Amino acid sequence: MNSGDMSVYRDTVRFVLDGRVVELRDVDPNRTVLQFLREDLRLTGTKEGCAEGDCGACTVVIADVDEASGRLRARAINSCICFVPTLDGRELFTVESLAGHDLHPVQRAMITQHGSQCGFCTPGFVMSLFALYKTNPQPSRRDIDDALAGNLCRCTGYRPIISAATSMYREAPADNDWMSAPAGGEVGDDERCRMKRLRALGRDRPLAVEWQQRHFFSPRSLDELATLTEQYPRATVLAGGTDLALRVTKQSHEFDMLIYLGNIEELKSVGVTDTRLEIGAAVSLSDAMTLIVKHFPFLEALFLRFASPPIRNAATLGGNVANGSPIGDSMPALLALDAELVLRRGHSTRMVPLAGFYTGYRKTALLPGEIVERILIPLPTATEQIRSYKVSKRFDQDISAVCGAYRLRLAGDTIDEVRVAYGGMAEIPRRARHCEQALAGQAWTEPVVRSAMRALDLDFTPIDDMRATRDYRQEVCRNLLLRFFLQSTGAQADEVYTYGR
Ligand code: FAD
Ligand code: FES
Ligand code: FES
Repeated sequence: MNSGDMSVYRDTVRFVLDGRVVELRDVDPNRTVLQFLREDLRLTGTKEGCAEGDCGACTVVIADVDEASGRLRARAINSCICFVPTLDGRELFTVESLAGHDLHPVQRAMITQHGSQCGFCTPGFVMSLFALYKTNPQPSRRDIDDALAGNLCRCTGYRPIISAATSMYREAPADNDWMSAPAGGEVGDDERCRMKRLRALGRDRPLAVEWQQRHFFSPRSLDELATLTEQYPRATVLAGGTDLALRVTKQSHEFDMLIYLGNIEELKSVGVTDTRLEIGAAVSLSDAMTLIVKHFPFLEALFLRFASPPIRNAATLGGNVANGSPIGDSMPALLALDAELVLRRGHSTRMVPLAGFYTGYRKTALLPGEIVERILIPLPTATEQIRSYKVSKRFDQDISAVCGAYRLRLAGDTIDEVRVAYGGMAEIPRRARHCEQALAGQAWTEPVVRSAMRALDLDFTPIDDMRATRDYRQEVCRNLLLRFFLQSTGAQADEVYTYGR
């Protein structure tokens, strides 16, 4: 990469929409895809409800080439919290894209099942269903409910929309049309052609967008990132933007310089060694959770309740960790698993245990220009029990009042190693050391656990806020430990989220 000043470059953002390459030269890096669609292109099928990722009215689908499988990979995202330059090199689908000569099978199913009344939510539902159609050829009821967890409807009721989700697979697709064919078929000419068009948009140096002295850089490798962060140590790092973009849409903040991690190959990879999982900081939460749940099946319930698929498709595990929110949902589990972080500044790296990463309310050990490069998670031993529980007012798409995570290793009946960690109980997510001490070396029995529950009062003095009172948090925190005890001993069954009963 050119080691000179990257701010001299002024590239066009290039992406595919409705069969043609859109080229944007003068684009504000803070402009959202939703604003661009509605205000610039007048594609007003995509709606704005909340502008914060909560209602799904703005759902669109983006696709890129998954080189590992040689397929086009589609995923739903919330266009209201996605910045336009992140579309570079990708294909964008809106609800208008689906209405060709004939209605798309998803649209036909919505009509025949009466899935729409006032219609405000309908484009968002159609796009979430389109993403499901393109990723899962045979969804279960739970898959369908999860796919729609980020979409709100105020009038129709969800039953006819869920019926549309099952009946859309019975509608006839158009011939040789990637969009109208459900997931799972062979690669056809249309898909090949779309992938070829996207590959042709590849770049040989980082994308550099400039608009009225605001900059957006998208490096493709760690070397390019190092050059940029050395040059601009105060630039804001952008991963999925599901936290960051809300500062623009809800607080009228404008970023002067963004460095986007979403195209850095090394950060998008995952690895499994004999001893641990290694998850690159730009891996989406959807992909990270697939890998984590494979090795820690009891964490599935936690991840299912993490936001919605469009958020999880955009958001990253690295962003959740680096953001340092006291109510971030992945951190209690990562703390209980003794996760470590690889931090990178320029060309040098260092390792930090997650337990030492948070230094205060939304403060971390990151130095200027330093990023989280990778999250390392030790693999479980055969005898370990691991659970994490999220307590929030709503089942789907809600923020935790309290989130607890537990890891236990027994030697016979005695506790050999134990970790207890919470979010929502203090200004940072952290381990409950008094509680752990009360358990260490003891027998794993209810009287011991009840005494450790009392020790939790020494660990945390939570606050009252709109999500929960202090007393409620303390009681929930104690009771979640008891739940872990009961489930680890088989006295209480684990929750199975099947939905649709
Ligand atoms: P970004 O928004 O891109 O970045 C977040 C912060 O981290 C920024 O300050 C950025 O500069 C910094 N950053 C990002 N990556 C790095 C890196 N590699 N190195 C250094 N700094 C970095 N969170 C939950 O925990 N549970 C939920 O259920 C949940 N639900 C949500 C629902 C909605 C509707 C929304 C909008 C958000 C929700 N969130 C939730 C919050 C958010 O989605 C997560 O925190 C997400 O993991 C953030 O990741 P991101 O990649 O989008 O981060
Ligand atoms: Fe509500 Fe985007 S407008 S999720
Ligand atoms: Fe009116 Fe869903 S049909 S909001």
